[in-house]
Amino acid sequence: MKVAVLGFGTVGQGVYEMLRHARGLEPGAVLVRPGKDDAAYKVTDITAITGDPTVGAVVEVLGGIEPARTWVEQALLAGKHVVTANKALVAECGPELANLAREKGVAFLFSAACGGGVPFLHNLALSTQSDEILTVGGILNGTTNYMLDAMQSRGADYAEVLKDAQQLGYAEADPTADVSGLDALRKIMLACAVAFEKLPAQGLYNEGIQNLTAADVKHFQSLGYTCRLVAKGGPVADTVFAFVEPTLVPASAAECAVKDNYNLARYEAKCAGDIVLMGQGAGRFPTASAVLRDLSDVVSGQRVMMPENCARVTADCSGCGHPYYVRLPEAFAGMLPCDKVTVADGVARVITKSVTVKEMHDTVAALRDKGAQVFFAGIEE
Ligand code: HSE
Repeated sequence: MKVAVLGFGTVGQGVYEMLRHARGLEPGAVLVRPGKDDAAYKVTDITAITGDPTVGAVVEVLGGIEPARTWVEQALLAGKHVVTANKALVAECGPELANLAREKGVAFLFSAACGGGVPFLHNLALSTQSDEILTVGGILNGTTNYMLDAMQSRGADYAEVLKDAQQLGYAEADPTADVSGLDALRKIMLACAVAFEKLPAQGLYNEGIQNLTAADVKHFQSLGYTCRLVAKGGPVADTVFAFVEPTLVPASAAECAVKDNYNLARYEAKCAGDIVLMGQGAGRFPTASAVLRDLSDVVSGQRVMMPENCARVTADCSGCGHPYYVRLPEAFAGMLPCDKVTVADGVARVITKSVTVKEMHDTVAALRDKGAQVFFAGIEE
């Protein structure tokens, strides 16, 4: 099958390189920006791909919503299978694109949009066919895991490790989505859609690692914890809960052993129990390998991983809770249900009683509105 590629950035180059050696697949044209067409296989007009009857599948690795959405629609309408690594696109319009693919009898697969090289959505989609999924989650952002690991293991500072993550090709072009938790949130949205047939579009909570300081790291290390950015999702009545937050895990937790740009994706199924998958969650070849795996699935006849009739829902995070570590100015500590408090130089470090995710994130938003500098992390019990 001849495969055209939209986008020639870090992942696009990896996909092209892998296509040159893959069994049953061959590289077609690559769509690049005007002025970047410095080789015969590079084109700047989408119709050179959608109008080419020899192209069987299109890989979209542009990122962002437009022009990716329009071009993916055009490819599907032209009867091409589509494989994408674009989580923003699938989180925004995955159900409609999957329905269009169904109508046209072609594939729309997006394993590479969640977990990089880790075959998370692929296995999750398979499990839904024979088992009931109870929860989904894990460490789904390679950039922040790399940063947290470096800050904790070698005492490096935030700005230095962010720069390293960008140079290694882990971070998005604009790393705000990585460090704010938005990238991981989009991934848990996709996992919820695949597992529970519900795409949470509102009512979601995400907290990133931008406010983490070396002093926080020292404090929770003294308590025996390691900080990871963890996403969680699960069904609740007619909807789902879904959130992302820094999480303090004990040394015994599998998440504690996740190093560098690695991801750990997990799901719990009623019959199979806990399934844990670990591997590189970001970077050129790990992500390209997930794209190639989807292309092999297309060749074997797999068509869609987004369930039919996947409904957009408002998430409900008011029923799940746990204690939190919160660092904030001493004057505001009274706004929290404190269990233990240590104060030094006007800064309070609080371990709270169990608080719901909704209540904690809403309280911190109110504290920030009052001008308080806050870092908080859930504590894994
Ligand atoms: N920026 C993303 C990450 C790339 O660091 O996980 C893979 O989705």
